Amino acid sequence: MPGIDHLTILESRHWHWPDEVACAATAARLAALPLATEFIELNGPLGAGKTTFVRHLLHALGVHGHVKSPTYALMEPYDVERDGAPLALWHFDFYRFDDPNEWEDAGFRDIFASPGVKLVEWPDKAGDLLPVPDLRITIEPGDGERRTVRADALSAAGVGLLKGVDASPVGAAPEVAGAHTGVADADAVVPPRTGVETA
Ligand SMILES: Nc1ncnc2c1ncn2[C@@H]1O[C@H](COP(=O)(O)OP(=O)(O)OP(=O)(O)O)[C@@H](O)[C@H]1O
Ligand SMILES: [Mg+2]
Repeated sequence: MPGIDHLTILESRHWHWPDEVACAATAARLAALPLATEFIELNGPLGAGKTTFVRHLLHALGVHGHVKSPTYALMEPYDVERDGAPLALWHFDFYRFDDPNEWEDAGFRDIFASPGVKLVEWPDKAGDLLPVPDLRITIEPGDGERRTVRADALSAAGVGLLKGVDASPVGAAPEVAGAHTGVADADAVVPPRTGVETA
């Protein structure tokens, strides 16, 4: 991906989701954090579970009803109220972009500069036009419902999200990939890496 090599991964986690319930649990832990302007990328092949994770996240944030995949509309906006204040949520899917400049043409730069949580599937399709994400989540499908997930923090806000998910009292902690016995969350911490593209 052009323009990405200079990015520094500040902190990472490996999560293991044995089933979609675990995916929903991680989403609920994330949703319990005080979100405001975060930009979260969702990577992974077709059918990996990017929209599914966003669906669980949006429902946990208070979005009612059906969460459509924005594959055709490119973007679906949502508004929720949290602690008495409005919170804008933007769900993007750039899969259908033929040219990264479509991101600019669609006027998305303004949205990314505005408050609210931005959740983006297929960010690669926008090339290097997107700002640096706070969190990059990469979902790798396994057998059946199994998913191996890597979450990379690329900003201080992203590190805060990872630590928040670790510490969240909501639901069960995401199982550590490869761990079969009760490994503490701290063992899931991957040392910081520089200039590594995992998508
Ligand atoms: N552990 C899991 N986590 C997430 N989704 C799962 C899991 N197990 C099974 N699924 C199922 O896998 C499918 C994932 O589809 P989804 O539309 O979320 O993929 P996607 O990554 O958004 O694909 P696309 O690139 O086409 O947008 C859903 O049917 C979901 O119910
Ligand atoms: Mg999708």
